[in-house]
Amino acid sequence: MKRIVVSGGAPLNGDIAVSGSKNAALPIIFSCILINGISEIDNLPDIGDTRVALDLLRSFGAVIERRGSITLIDTRRLSYVKPDENLVEKIRASTYLIGSCLSRFGACHLMPFGGCNFSLRPIDMHLSACRSLGASVNDNIILCHSLRGADINFDKPSVGATVNAILLSATATGRTVIRGCAIEPHIDALIDFLNSAGASIMRNGREVEIFGRELHGGKIKVIGDMIESGSYLALGIMTGGKIRTHNSPISDMTSVIDALRELGADVVCENDSISACLNSGNHLRLTATPYPGFPTDLQPIFAPLMAANMGGEICDTVWESRFGYLNVLSSFGVRSSVLGNRATIYKSNLHTASAVCPDLRGGMACLMCALSVEGKSEIYSAETILRGYEDLENKLSAVGAEIKIDN
Ligand code: EPU
Repeated sequence: MKRIVVSGGAPLNGDIAVSGSKNAALPIIFSCILINGISEIDNLPDIGDTRVALDLLRSFGAVIERRGSITLIDTRRLSYVKPDENLVEKIRASTYLIGSCLSRFGACHLMPFGGCNFSLRPIDMHLSACRSLGASVNDNIILCHSLRGADINFDKPSVGATVNAILLSATATGRTVIRGCAIEPHIDALIDFLNSAGASIMRNGREVEIFGRELHGGKIKVIGDMIESGSYLALGIMTGGKIRTHNSPISDMTSVIDALRELGADVVCENDSISACLNSGNHLRLTATPYPGFPTDLQPIFAPLMAANMGGEICDTVWESRFGYLNVLSSFGVRSSVLGNRATIYKSNLHTASAVCPDLRGGMACLMCALSVEGKSEIYSAETILRGYEDLENKLSAVGAEIKIDN
């Protein structure tokens, strides 16, 4: 179990280069299973989740090589084996095995898919997409002889189900139309990658039209991670400093920039860089909704900012109950109350603590508290944070943090 030891209290100032987006990289990696060829992925983040995803691909026979910033994924000689449950239970994106393995091998085992355990995470929409294209879903395995294009109607936007519906139909026979899709930037990144590999996929609003094609090797540069960028901007403010994030996908971050300004921050955007520092903190009300709204993955990051300033309110319309992390933040002095999918965060006096990471973003929220108060704090089970933040120790040390990660 990794531990982060922090000696907090110093304002963090300086520049951080944001890595490739976790939630864009993961569907792209799994979509390589559909491809009979060698794909070139630039800017793939080296984080816990992508390492597990690449290990899952290797278990089917993929050959993966890193050359500078490019990762080459050779998926010409693959064969199906039951995925290793120890890997599958580590990351949520292992659900993308459903679409990719059914498309390539005609089979996929069902097993407990992992990831942050902050809410019920059903896969009913993923399975109904499989059935629509002609697969039969049994207790522990999904099978199909051939996938046939179909009409799929989702009654709410789901990132994972949209990814799987695209993976199922990219090489299926005929035309598929998916309505009610998620439109997060990572969905477009997946579409761009598959189109570079010979797919025929067009998105128009929440509707995606796909004509099944044979795929060859594809090429893409993974977009910058807006959640990582938002996290470091918030961290700079939290410590009374000013961090500038480079490689930020600014046009995807309007809701985040608006929220920082409502908090009272002075935000400056230039090319692909964003900097933020606080003038005077305001009470902040946030509602997390599917893209283009404020991202649910940043609501845990904004909670400590509210506590350290004038308090605030969070309503999360994506997840039923993504507030378990607030119990852990209370050990740093964050006061809050939760009712259903709403939380009130009170202005609080924060202090040092020892805590165990509740989940990926909740873990980052703990680290923000630890870095903002004078004295030593410890965060256990730090692998959970490293699942989503590349090179954390070096990036934070470079802006003045006293931080050490040990085993
Ligand atoms: N849902 C269903 N049925 C389904 C699928 C989803 O009811 O079959 C519901 C969920 O319960 C939830 C809503 O639909 O209420 C949206 O869930 P979605 O499927 O969009 O989430 P996901 O694909 O499992 C991804 C990200 C999460 C992020 C959500 C929402 C990845 C690997 N994970 O999860 O990221 O919170 O979209 O944007 O892309 C994180 O990075 O910290 C993280 C948790």
